[in-house]
Amino acid sequence: MRKQFICGNWKMFKDLVETAELINGLKTEVSSLNPKVTVAVCPPFTSLAIAANLLKDSTIRIGAQNMSPHDEGACTGEISWRMLKSVGCEYVILGHSERRQFFGETNELINEKAKKALANGLKPIVCVGETLDQREKGVTTQIITTQIKGVLDGIGSSDLGNVTIAYEPVWAIGTGKNATPLQAQEVHQGIRKLIGQLYNWSVAESIVIQYGGSVKPENAKDLLAQDDIDGALVGGACLKPDSFLAIISAAKS
Ligand code: PGA
Repeated sequence: MRKQFICGNWKMFKDLVETAELINGLKTEVSSLNPKVTVAVCPPFTSLAIAANLLKDSTIRIGAQNMSPHDEGACTGEISWRMLKSVGCEYVILGHSERRQFFGETNELINEKAKKALANGLKPIVCVGETLDQREKGVTTQIITTQIKGVLDGIGSSDLGNVTIAYEPVWAIGTGKNATPLQAQEVHQGIRKLIGQLYNWSVAESIVIQYGGSVKPENAKDLLAQDDIDGALVGGACLKPDSFLAIISAAKS
């Protein structure tokens, strides 16, 4: 059975003081909740080191929100896999729709980053999702298929066990309007089927597919109860201990 994976994407929130407050609010509670669920937080780069330090003896893992496709060099403002590993990151979110929309990230670039992460022992959480316009035009399946094929291009089945896919419909992110459990399940099932075609059924059965987009305590249980939804990538609701903890405890175990 797939292990549920709940990950908090802090986006561009929390300075150092606020980081310590949030981590301290989570870490004592999280061990008593749903021990069968993997929990990670992805603070901004500036908070990674302090978060990792505070979480030294905790089961909560750490991830970053982005990573350069390059090892090092004259890339002002970029952060490499080596830097992320040196502060204790295990995961990295790649291809979030905000990076695609506002920073021009393409499937090719996200693929390059995913391969770089995997080659260097970081586990990518690769995001895919359609816009409202695409959903209304009825092309969700085509969009998701193109994104999945693009971001996983050249990644072998032995590496896929270290990849998490996050299905995040763009129209549901930060809008308060989540996909219904059935809408999400339909896409998740389609993604798993596609992975089965691209790889094989045992790889498809074991890959973790998170749902993201306005996950909150009120809707988490119904979303996470779906057969092919294996966890959540949580934005707004991960910024307060109570709501993030409530989502963790809603995960099926
Ligand atoms: P949200 O964000 O939960 O605030 O909708 C999710 C995400 O962007 O990962």
